[in-house]
Amino acid sequence: MQLGASELAFVLLLSGVFSTLFASPLLAFDLGQSTRCVTIPNQMKVCKDVGYSEMRLPNFLGHSNLEGEVVPRSEDWRPLLQTGCHPQAQAFLCSIIAPVCLDTFIQPCHSLCVAVRDSCAPVLACQGHPWPEALNCDRFPAEEDMCLTPLSKFSHFMKDLPKAVCQNCPSVEVAPATKTVMSALCHHDFAVTAKLHRLRHPTREPEFQVEGRVEFIRQGPLLPYDTQHLLRDWLLINLSCASALVRPGRSQLYVLTGSVQPDGNIALVRLFPWHKKDAGIALATRKWKHHRC
Ligand SMILES: *[C@@H]1O[C@H](CO)[C@@H](O)[C@H](O)[C@H]1NC(C)=O
Repeated sequence: MQLGASELAFVLLLSGVFSTLFASPLLAFDLGQSTRCVTIPNQMKVCKDVGYSEMRLPNFLGHSNLEGEVVPRSEDWRPLLQTGCHPQAQAFLCSIIAPVCLDTFIQPCHSLCVAVRDSCAPVLACQGHPWPEALNCDRFPAEEDMCLTPLSKFSHFMKDLPKAVCQNCPSVEVAPATKTVMSALCHHDFAVTAKLHRLRHPTREPEFQVEGRVEFIRQGPLLPYDTQHLLRDWLLINLSCASALVRPGRSQLYVLTGSVQPDGNIALVRLFPWHKKDAGIALATRKWKHHRC
């Protein structure tokens, strides 16, 4: 078997023992049944850049019709994956819907499934969907089998970072008085200004973006380089909340205040849309430097 560089890189991510006889109840087909390898099509955005170029059909969901089933169903996962709910969410999902084309079948390990599920199921619930039965972690092999394992560097790296989670929509206060803004700045861990942008016709891009730089009024525990992504992830977790904040095809500058819980979860609490005429906000941000709460 010839491995391309990307396949090789992918295999290097795997650990565990290669077992020649690889059997599992999840396999929707037996190894005697004919399977085929195809190039992951460009339209299959969620797996196109997963790190290998050929996938096997039928996939682990038992789908064999590429144009009619595999590609369109893959789109169902985009709203979840674009939230960045887990750094291995894409590898996990694509190992099921677009399994790498090697001469053995490689499933995600039970432990990887659990790690991804624990991070992503709350986001999926926020978007109105239960964790699907097809991804029930009990169906995946323990690490003694050859399978896709969680990378410990990710779980270690992620542990203390501020993280966007599902929450109720924060309150939005239009044309606030200076003292209203000052009090929000005093009572929450962080305050930033950010321009929220909503595409009019989202096709491939996420519908919501954070335009330009995020400016800190009060940095608190937020990381300077990560906050733009953090806010974008937050917008993409509850799309109906985000939709209430900015109209299609528009951008809106906001002062966003919120807190960071000890586990790193952020909660946005009070939001102020900042229009040019809003003297109250401008004055508050100027006074803040010298203000004592
Ligand atoms: C998402 O936002 C909507 C709209 O503001 C809100 O009604 C809903 O409660 C939010 N969802 C969750 C799970 O918090």
